[in-house]
Amino acid sequence: MLWHFTMSLDGFVAGPNHAMDWMAGVSSRPGLVEEYAKTTGAVLGGRNGFDAYPDVSGIYGGAWQGRVFVLTHHPEDAPPTTGVTFLSCDVAEAVRIGLEAAGGKNLEVFSATIGRQLLERGLIDEIDLHIAPVLLGDGIRLFDNPGGDPLRLELLTGDDRSAAVNVRHRPGATR
Ligand SMILES: NC(=O)c1ccc[n+]([C@@H]2O[C@H](COP(=O)([O-])OP(=O)(O)OC[C@H]3O[C@@H](n4cnc5c(N)ncnc54)[C@H](OP(=O)(O)O)[C@@H]3O)[C@@H](O)[C@H]2O)c1
Repeated sequence: MLWHFTMSLDGFVAGPNHAMDWMAGVSSRPGLVEEYAKTTGAVLGGRNGFDAYPDVSGIYGGAWQGRVFVLTHHPEDAPPTTGVTFLSCDVAEAVRIGLEAAGGKNLEVFSATIGRQLLERGLIDEIDLHIAPVLLGDGIRLFDNPGGDPLRLELLTGDDRSAAVNVRHRPGATR
């Protein structure tokens, strides 16, 4: 169970109204898309993300094929969409269904809301982030948990599990 996002430097995974245009022009390391297209077995998302971007054929540049599950409290008004199964069940049950469909590959969570619920239940194995060189200041946070306690993480890249990740930027020419 992999919680996988490209995130702004200030912690947003989407801008206001689910805007994703801030990702344009951000380059990813060579081979990344192909790598994820291979290792991803199925995707679990939420209804808001689906309503904003109902065409799932472009996941990983169209290089990926697999089942997409969308959690919603009202599946009855969801438009039938090729490759998408709407679920209205407990998140843990959605994970069980998604993992079964993933056939031993990763089930990736493309939802901030669902990721937080799964973290609470101890159902996230890893959080996989690509940090884009942009500050959004508004939008949908990776982890929105006002009043909650800090949640400690272990760094899985490198040898030091408690290491901070060091990045150094300067404001770009276009603002
Ligand atoms: N940066 C990236 O790499 C990346 C990748 C993928 C997606 N995204 C974006 O990330 C954003 C995610 O938005 P989000 O997390 O705020 O919203 P979301 O998860 O897409 O949608 C939230 C909705 O999902 C449904 N839902 C959530 N948990 C549920 C549960 N336990 N049972 C039943 N239904 C449940 C509810 O819909 P109902 O109204 O049906 O109850 C809830 O209002 C989207 O804009 C998406 O486009 C970014």
